[in-house]
Amino acid sequence: MRIVVASDHAAVELRQEMAAVAAELGHEVTDLGPAPGEAVDYPVNGAKVGRLVAAGDYDLGLIACGTGIGIGISANKVPGIRAAICSDVYSAKLSRQHNDSNVLALGARVVGTGLARLIVETWLTTEFEGGRHARRVGLINELDHQRG
Ligand code: RB5
Repeated sequence: MRIVVASDHAAVELRQEMAAVAAELGHEVTDLGPAPGEAVDYPVNGAKVGRLVAAGDYDLGLIACGTGIGIGISANKVPGIRAAICSDVYSAKLSRQHNDSNVLALGARVVGTGLARLIVETWLTTEFEGGRHARRVGLINELDHQRG
Protein backbone atom coordinates (compact mmCIF):
# COMPACT_ATOMS: atom_id res chain seq x y z
CA MET A 1 0.00 0.00 0.00
CA ARG A 2 0.95 3.64 -0.38
CA ILE A 3 1.38 5.17 3.05
CA VAL A 4 1.91 8.82 3.92
CA VAL A 5 3.53 9.73 7.23
CA ALA A 6 3.88 13.06 9.06
CA SER A 7 4.17 14.49 12.57
CA ASP A 8 4.83 17.72 14.40
CA HIS A 9 8.17 18.60 16.02
CA ALA A 10 7.23 16.75 19.25
CA ALA A 11 7.10 13.37 17.51
CA VAL A 12 9.90 13.26 14.96
CA GLU A 13 11.54 10.09 16.32
CA LEU A 14 8.24 8.29 16.79
CA ARG A 15 7.17 9.20 13.26
CA GLN A 16 10.43 7.81 11.90
CA GLU A 17 9.76 4.54 13.79
CA MET A 18 6.24 4.41 12.37
CA ALA A 19 7.59 4.93 8.86
CA ALA A 20 10.21 2.24 9.43
CA VAL A 21 7.59 -0.33 10.50
CA ALA A 22 5.52 0.42 7.40
CA ALA A 23 8.58 0.07 5.16
CA GLU A 24 9.60 -3.19 6.87
CA LEU A 25 6.14 -4.55 6.05
CA GLY A 26 6.82 -3.80 2.39
CA HIS A 27 4.71 -0.67 1.98
CA GLU A 28 5.62 2.32 -0.17
CA VAL A 29 6.20 5.09 2.37
CA THR A 30 6.26 8.86 1.84
CA ASP A 31 7.50 10.82 4.86
CA LEU A 32 6.41 14.48 4.91
CA GLY A 33 8.55 15.34 7.94
CA PRO A 34 9.36 17.56 9.73
CA ALA A 35 13.13 17.12 9.92
CA PRO A 36 14.68 17.09 13.40
CA GLY A 37 14.83 20.66 14.75
CA GLU A 38 12.18 21.97 12.35
CA ALA A 39 8.98 23.29 13.98
CA VAL A 40 5.63 22.37 12.42
CA ASP A 41 2.22 22.97 14.01
CA TYR A 42 0.28 19.71 14.25
CA PRO A 43 -2.90 21.00 12.50
CA VAL A 44 -0.85 21.69 9.37
CA ASN A 45 0.50 18.17 9.01
CA GLY A 46 -2.68 16.49 10.28
CA ALA A 47 -4.71 18.22 7.59
CA LYS A 48 -2.03 17.57 4.96
CA VAL A 49 -2.08 13.81 5.55
CA GLY A 50 -5.88 13.83 5.79
CA ARG A 51 -6.29 15.59 2.46
CA LEU A 52 -3.83 13.26 0.69
CA VAL A 53 -5.57 10.12 2.00
CA ALA A 54 -9.07 11.50 1.33
CA ALA A 55 -8.02 12.38 -2.23
CA GLY A 56 -6.84 8.81 -2.83
CA ASP A 57 -3.21 9.78 -3.36
CA TYR A 58 -2.36 7.41 -0.50
CA ASP A 59 -4.16 4.38 0.93
CA LEU A 60 -3.46 5.07 4.60
CA GLY A 61 -1.82 7.70 6.80
CA LEU A 62 0.36 7.50 9.90
CA ILE A 63 0.61 10.63 12.05
CA ALA A 64 2.03 11.60 15.42
CA CYS A 65 2.33 14.55 17.79
CA GLY A 66 3.03 14.80 21.52
CA THR A 67 -0.23 13.12 22.48
CA GLY A 68 -1.58 12.07 19.08
CA ILE A 69 -4.70 14.01 19.95
CA GLY A 70 -4.09 17.36 18.25
CA ILE A 71 -2.91 15.89 14.99
CA GLY A 72 -5.65 13.23 15.09
CA ILE A 73 -8.39 15.82 15.62
CA SER A 74 -6.94 17.87 12.77
CA ALA A 75 -6.92 14.92 10.37
CA ASN A 76 -10.50 14.09 11.33
CA LYS A 77 -11.64 17.54 10.17
CA VAL A 78 -11.00 16.41 6.60
CA PRO A 79 -14.11 14.79 5.04
CA GLY A 80 -13.54 11.09 4.43
CA ILE A 81 -10.96 10.70 7.18
CA ARG A 82 -11.46 8.31 10.07
CA ALA A 83 -8.37 8.85 12.19
CA ALA A 84 -7.94 6.57 15.19
CA ILE A 85 -5.98 8.05 18.10
CA CYS A 86 -4.59 4.97 19.81
CA SER A 87 -2.34 4.06 22.69
CA ASP A 88 -3.07 0.33 22.79
CA VAL A 89 -3.03 -2.57 20.35
CA TYR A 90 -6.67 -3.59 20.89
CA SER A 91 -8.04 -0.18 19.92
CA ALA A 92 -5.80 -0.04 16.87
CA LYS A 93 -7.00 -3.47 15.74
CA LEU A 94 -10.70 -2.72 16.31
CA SER A 95 -10.37 0.68 14.61
CA ARG A 96 -9.50 -1.20 11.44
CA GLN A 97 -11.95 -4.10 11.83
CA HIS A 98 -15.00 -2.06 12.83
CA ASN A 99 -14.35 1.59 11.89
CA ASP A 100 -12.25 1.15 8.75
CA SER A 101 -9.87 3.77 10.14
CA ASN A 102 -7.71 5.20 7.39
CA VAL A 103 -5.31 7.23 9.54
CA LEU A 104 -3.54 6.14 12.74
CA ALA A 105 -2.45 8.81 15.24
CA LEU A 106 0.03 8.09 18.04
CA GLY A 107 1.48 10.23 20.83
CA ALA A 108 5.23 10.40 21.34
CA ARG A 109 4.74 11.37 24.99
CA VAL A 110 2.24 8.56 25.51
CA VAL A 111 3.59 5.36 23.97
CA GLY A 112 7.10 3.95 24.03
CA THR A 113 8.86 2.76 20.92
CA GLY A 114 8.14 -0.95 21.41
CA LEU A 115 4.42 -0.46 21.92
CA ALA A 116 4.22 2.05 19.08
CA ARG A 117 5.83 -0.42 16.68
CA LEU A 118 3.37 -3.14 17.70
CA ILE A 119 0.40 -0.77 17.33
CA VAL A 120 1.50 0.25 13.84
CA GLU A 121 2.18 -3.34 12.80
CA THR A 122 -1.22 -4.46 14.08
CA TRP A 123 -3.04 -1.57 12.44
CA LEU A 124 -1.36 -2.12 9.07
CA THR A 125 -2.04 -5.87 9.05
CA THR A 126 -5.69 -5.77 10.14
CA GLU A 127 -8.49 -5.63 7.56
CA PHE A 128 -11.89 -3.94 7.76
CA GLU A 129 -14.52 -6.62 8.45
CA GLY A 130 -17.30 -4.94 6.47
CA GLY A 131 -20.71 -6.56 7.02
CA ARG A 132 -22.73 -4.81 9.73
CA HIS A 133 -19.84 -2.40 10.26
CA ALA A 134 -20.08 -1.08 6.70
CA ARG A 135 -23.50 0.46 7.40
CA ARG A 136 -22.14 2.21 10.49
CA VAL A 137 -19.10 3.52 8.65
CA GLY A 138 -21.54 4.76 6.02
CA LEU A 139 -23.36 6.67 8.75
CA ILE A 140 -20.04 8.22 9.83
CA ASN A 141 -19.36 9.23 6.25
CA GLU A 142 -22.79 10.88 6.00
CA LEU A 143 -21.73 13.20 8.81
CA ASP A 144 -19.14 14.66 6.45
CA HIS A 145 -22.00 16.21 4.51
CA GLN A 146 -23.92 17.57 7.48
CA ARG A 147 -23.46 20.75 9.46
CA GLY A 148 -24.08 20.33 13.21
C1 RB5 B 1 3.28 20.30 21.05
O1 RB5 B 1 3.96 20.73 22.17
C2 RB5 B 1 2.05 19.50 21.49
O2 RB5 B 1 1.06 20.37 21.94
C3 RB5 B 1 1.56 18.64 20.37
O3 RB5 B 1 2.57 17.81 19.94
C4 RB5 B 1 0.40 17.71 20.66
O4 RB5 B 1 0.61 17.00 21.84
C5 RB5 B 1 -0.93 18.28 20.60
O5 RB5 B 1 -1.97 17.60 20.67
